[in-house]
Amino acid sequence: MAENRIFSGVQPTGNLHLGNYLGAVKRFVDLQEKNAECIYCLVDLHAITNWQEPKDLTENTLEVAAAFLACGLREKTSIIFNQSQVKAHSELAWIFNCVARIGWMNRMTQFKEKAGKNKEAASLGLYCYPALMAADILAYHATHVPVGEDQKQHLELTRDIALKFNNDFKVPNFFPVPEPIIEGTATRVMSLRDGTKKMSKSEASDMSRINLTDEIDLIARKIQKAKTDAFEIPEKREDLINRPEAENLLTIFSSLTNKSLDETIKIFCGSDFKRLKTELADLLIEELKPINQEVKKLLKDKTYLKSVLKEGSEKARVIADPILEKTFEIIGMVK
Ligand code: TYM
Repeated sequence: MAENRIFSGVQPTGNLHLGNYLGAVKRFVDLQEKNAECIYCLVDLHAITNWQEPKDLTENTLEVAAAFLACGLREKTSIIFNQSQVKAHSELAWIFNCVARIGWMNRMTQFKEKAGKNKEAASLGLYCYPALMAADILAYHATHVPVGEDQKQHLELTRDIALKFNNDFKVPNFFPVPEPIIEGTATRVMSLRDGTKKMSKSEASDMSRINLTDEIDLIARKIQKAKTDAFEIPEKREDLINRPEAENLLTIFSSLTNKSLDETIKIFCGSDFKRLKTELADLLIEELKPINQEVKKLLKDKTYLKSVLKEGSEKARVIADPILEKTFEIIGMVK
């Protein structure tokens, strides 16, 4: 994978949850182990598109850095840093604001969801968020971007921006057109309270998600209380249609055991949810307990966590700065 460069980002807006872990961070670790060149960013500039208390932003950034390391990312192998410390992100984002079209932004479903009914009150940053995301990726000429299903549309927009820039300035292939990596069984983990909604940090009920920092009793309780239906586990995948909660629990089990959904269905077919929930809770505790303990340990040494981010941003700048310089030159900015 030598010529591949991986980039991905996570917002430091609170605890990471099981969706972030199975859909993204676990994949980040897999890619790191495949010897790809990996750049993983805590996107603090994206985080402030919604109001963040300054103190919380600082704490959450360090907490997500700790979670990255506790999940198996290594600062010597991957580049781990926070976005605001590499100026190329914001500068390239401005250029991409001038490349992207308003019509493209108007199609972004995540803006519509996040802005809610009162769009007029949303920040301008939330609206042009995808141009910053394109800048994150293209500032490194990244070729592959591991993400969960919900980021697919933003990745398509990144590809459109790369193509339009290359075309407008007649620099074919200057920005590589990056490929999304949306892999694994759990690319869209759903809420434990409503299987039609994505598991998310912004959902009001904490019972809707498993956080990487949840204590083991709480994990067990959240799984026991997870919404289900009155039927037993079916024999075939097709019979899960219109049973989103059942499908979600089976999908989480599959992802944790590296099995396909069909294989998991075979294990549980004919049983009730009690058995699935008990086995799932045990699995989750086995997987998350060491991560939880490591996060707590790492958070005791904030100086170390800050040094990881500082070193990471220095390495990131070495890659991004010359690409930004070249971009200015292509555009015709006088130096
Ligand atoms: P964020 O912080 O919302 O989520 C981080 C990653 O977790 C994935 N994810 C999920 N996967 C499966 N099931 C879920 N329920 C679930 N919820 C979240 C997300 O798809 C994501 O991969 N815009 C991005 C951050 C970003 C970024 C980037 C990503 C900024 N710049 C450049 C890739 C490349 C976001 O808000 O992710």
